[in-house]
Amino acid sequence: MKAIAIRTFGGPDGLAVVELPDPVPAAGQVLVDVAAIGVAGADTLIRSGALAAYGFRAGHVPGSEVAGTVTAVGDGVGPEWLGRRVWAFTGTGGGYVEQAVAPLADVVQLPPDLSFVDAVTLGSAGVVAHFGLAHAHFAPGESVLVRGAAGSLGIMTVQLAARSGPVSVTTSSPERGERLRQLGATHVLDRSGGSSAGWDVIIDVVAGPDLPSFLDRLNPNGRMVVVGAVGGQPPADFGVTMMAAFRRSTSFATFSSDTVSADDRRAVRTGQFAAAERGELAAVVHEVLPLEQAVLAHRKMDAGEVFGRIVLTT
Ligand SMILES: NC(=O)c1ccc[n+]([C@@H]2O[C@H](COP(=O)([O-])OP(=O)(O)OC[C@H]3O[C@@H](n4cnc5c(N)ncnc54)[C@H](OP(=O)(O)O)[C@@H]3O)[C@@H](O)[C@H]2O)c1
Repeated sequence: MKAIAIRTFGGPDGLAVVELPDPVPAAGQVLVDVAAIGVAGADTLIRSGALAAYGFRAGHVPGSEVAGTVTAVGDGVGPEWLGRRVWAFTGTGGGYVEQAVAPLADVVQLPPDLSFVDAVTLGSAGVVAHFGLAHAHFAPGESVLVRGAAGSLGIMTVQLAARSGPVSVTTSSPERGERLRQLGATHVLDRSGGSSAGWDVIIDVVAGPDLPSFLDRLNPNGRMVVVGAVGGQPPADFGVTMMAAFRRSTSFATFSSDTVSADDRRAVRTGQFAAAERGELAAVVHEVLPLEQAVLAHRKMDAGEVFGRIVLTT
């Protein structure tokens, strides 16, 4: 089968089209004939070499989120899965392929009218958005800032939070701000946040050097939850800012969906796929490209020009 592998770490041109043997599902796994693949920020980070410490080697196949049709099942998986349209998580790699294997625990059947492209746009991001807000103990009516709202995580967080209260966003252009308003944002700020302040909850996709300045703008009892770090690490002494605001009882936390059980992830994903099918959640697809153009997809990601998600198709 055709796949995309990292030949050399660094720029997008280090990605190459390769031929790999068709995989065989192991016990507890399904084989998916892949139709659509989500291109994630983590894929570009791995390709750049920034995560070399985690042991990624040349030949690594990036991608973690696919959708398609089950064509074979491993031992212990019921034959009723054959022929089902599914979304599947392949792990920290193995997604940029024509045939993917995934453990059944990370496979969700799709509703009939949800497209494969929309499924890989919503599947991972929706779960992070849902449980990130829950981790922040977000309650209806509270004010939220979504920092770094123009990516797939931010767009889903905006849509979920906007169901019950005011949502501020940071973004780099008025055009993006307008699109975020259409998705539910009520206040559009530039990346610095300007002079705005006073949020009960901040969901932060960015982290980076400006994190303390946002932490300092929480309301009393406010909570900041970092779900991504596209702006890099925060200053090592950011806790000093929190301690200086001791009497405002603010909180800081990180959140990873790795700490959510597979059953809970599946339940939320199933509900979100159904909501998208009913038109209650929008899947924001930046562009659809053929699998062979993964290099172009990564160039666009690196250039920061992606609003929502790029999807590769086989
Ligand atoms: N917590 C979890 O379980 C989980 C799961 C999957 C992924 N992640 C993490 O989520 C992140 C990717 O999420 P994503 O795909 O939604 O993000 P993204 O699209 O890569 O970035 C989100 C937005 O942040 C803004 N931005 C980029 N660099 C910035 C900077 N230096 N300063 C300020 N704003 C900046 C950009 O919008 P503007 O240009 O409009 O400002 C960008 O569209 C990664 O860090 C990944 O590791 C976390």
